[in-house]
Amino acid sequence: MIRPEEPGDEPAVRAVNVAAFETLAEADLVDALRAQARPLVSLVATEEGAITGHIMFSPVTLPGHPALVLMGLAPMAVTPARQRAGIGSALVPVGLEACRRLPADAVVVLGHPAYYPRFGFVPGVRRGLGCEYDVPVEAFMVLELRPGALRGASGTIQYHRAFASL
Ligand SMILES: CC(C)(COP(=O)(O)OP(=O)(O)OC[C@H]1O[C@@H](n2cnc3c(N)ncnc32)[C@H](O)[C@@H]1OP(=O)(O)O)[C@@H](O)C(=O)NCCC(=O)NCCS
Repeated sequence: MIRPEEPGDEPAVRAVNVAAFETLAEADLVDALRAQARPLVSLVATEEGAITGHIMFSPVTLPGHPALVLMGLAPMAVTPARQRAGIGSALVPVGLEACRRLPADAVVVLGHPAYYPRFGFVPGVRRGLGCEYDVPVEAFMVLELRPGALRGASGTIQYHRAFASL
């Protein structure tokens, strides 16, 4: 089951992120974004009442295009014992739909280029978008939630300031 994060879920969400990542940085990022970022989309996957997956979307900006509402998918985590069982793939589309309802114009993600295209993401470079981090160009991807939303837009996407501590 996928549902919005609710008050009281914070410790379980943190536990999933601590378990899924090698350092505490992503768990700390989740806590910082929850406190600082608006709008925020934070969803959990539950199995028999236990939180086994989490996904977060926070605002990103494109300099020179202040009217665009853009969200960044990060981080996403599934508890190790439950990885590769489809939980991440269930979280992404529900999260994208929540972003569409905000309404956001597009979502960006920095991630594995073999994973995110299945949800409709295309290389950011194809839409003229780059990322402020030094990553392989194919790892930065974008999905328009409103067709044509990114027409005429180009530049370097800036993540929320909480990402600076990653
Ligand atoms: C990445 C993650 C959230 C995916 O969730 P999941 O529930 O395990 O993924 P699903 O079962 O829905 O999908 C599995 C698919 O994703 C692919 N996949 C998952 N993680 C991958 C990775 N790091 N690199 C490449 N492919 C990956 C698998 O190959 C598999 O592909 P297939 O369906 O073609 O076999 C989860 O593995 C995880 O928490 N990993 C550690 C934390 C992390 O790296 N998060 C992402 C960066 S923010």
